[in-house]
Amino acid sequence: MTRHDPPASPLLTHCPETLPARAYYDADWFGREERAIWRRNWVYAGRLADLAPGTMRRISIGGQNLLLCRDQAGAVTAFHNTCRHRGSELCGAEDRKLGKLITCPYHAWSYATDGRLVSVAHATPTEDFRFEDHGLFAVHVQQWNGFLYLCLAETAPAFAPDLGLHALDNWPMAELVTGHRLVSELACNWKIFWENYNECLHCPGIHPGLCDMVPVYSRGVMSARELPGWDGSAPAGPVLKPGAETWTKSGAPCGPVFAGLTDAERAAGFTFVTLYPAMFVVAHVDYVRAVSLAPLGPERTRLTAEWLFPRETLDQPGFDAAAVAAFAARVLMEDGAACEMNQRGLRSERFAQGRLMPQEFDILAFHDWVRRQLAAEEGEGA
Ligand code: FES
Ligand SMILES: [Fe+2]
Repeated sequence: MTRHDPPASPLLTHCPETLPARAYYDADWFGREERAIWRRNWVYAGRLADLAPGTMRRISIGGQNLLLCRDQAGAVTAFHNTCRHRGSELCGAEDRKLGKLITCPYHAWSYATDGRLVSVAHATPTEDFRFEDHGLFAVHVQQWNGFLYLCLAETAPAFAPDLGLHALDNWPMAELVTGHRLVSELACNWKIFWENYNECLHCPGIHPGLCDMVPVYSRGVMSARELPGWDGSAPAGPVLKPGAETWTKSGAPCGPVFAGLTDAERAAGFTFVTLYPAMFVVAHVDYVRAVSLAPLGPERTRLTAEWLFPRETLDQPGFDAAAVAAFAARVLMEDGAACEMNQRGLRSERFAQGRLMPQEFDILAFHDWVRRQLAAEEGEGA
């Protein structure tokens, strides 16, 4: 391995090909991803604080209908949303109240909140039927910084945010409250948004307001370390414009600044954590934003953004969470429009594959990850 002094540039030293165009619209490719990516990795399922004790909720991951439960004592469990009798859905579209038991709405089989079958109601099984063989099909649950994640794989992979498990330790993450939420359905493949969110070549053209807030973005890069001649003296991460401390319209914090942050975390203006397959946590000095993607179809993606605040910030007289969120919401909508434009264009019969530029190193890493996931699944199936 070559030694670099000054520090190594992250720029690619070649211009690799992208994933093939069909990766963004082909139904078979989408099905492979559902199996290889979405049913095998940890997938974000919402804030713990937004799932009240005594609630069950239907959610969908990788095309699978799932049931997320929080019992009266606060414990969280998750199952496939299918009854072991004849397969009825257990929980419909709306959040349902959860008592001691999960009761099937069809013939009233009942399960404990840990999934054990405890009653078959009016049915009279013979001796060959064993209750212990007919519990709900469990799904792995993980909590991290007040976020809930589910994994459908039999053996779950390690839970591994790109900056490590401790990247947000200085933020009081578990105590933060959802103050604003944006949900938008975009006419694009989920990977199109992922790619957009991890490069800044589009920033000068698509995000004038963002480039004003983060000046280095106006040069089409995410940080100074991507600029020619970077010698390590400028900060490696993005830096807000002089006088701005956070992503609000004025750049001023919207409430008390988190007390536990290091000088470097405050100076950076934001800490950006990526969780594969498709969640991004942006931690500012005064609030945190979580952005996540859920594929709804080959060319349809649900984008969710949640703005998380300390309770005391939300309780400030006249506090308007939507107004605070407006700056980043605008950037997200600019990104969404760009992604839909990207999707429409790559449908051309002449576009078979694109080329990545050296600044798109995060996209290459993502494409390699997608390829590895698909290959691993195929290897197992072979
Ligand atoms: S299908 Fe659930 S009790 Fe019959
Ligand atoms: Fe963008």
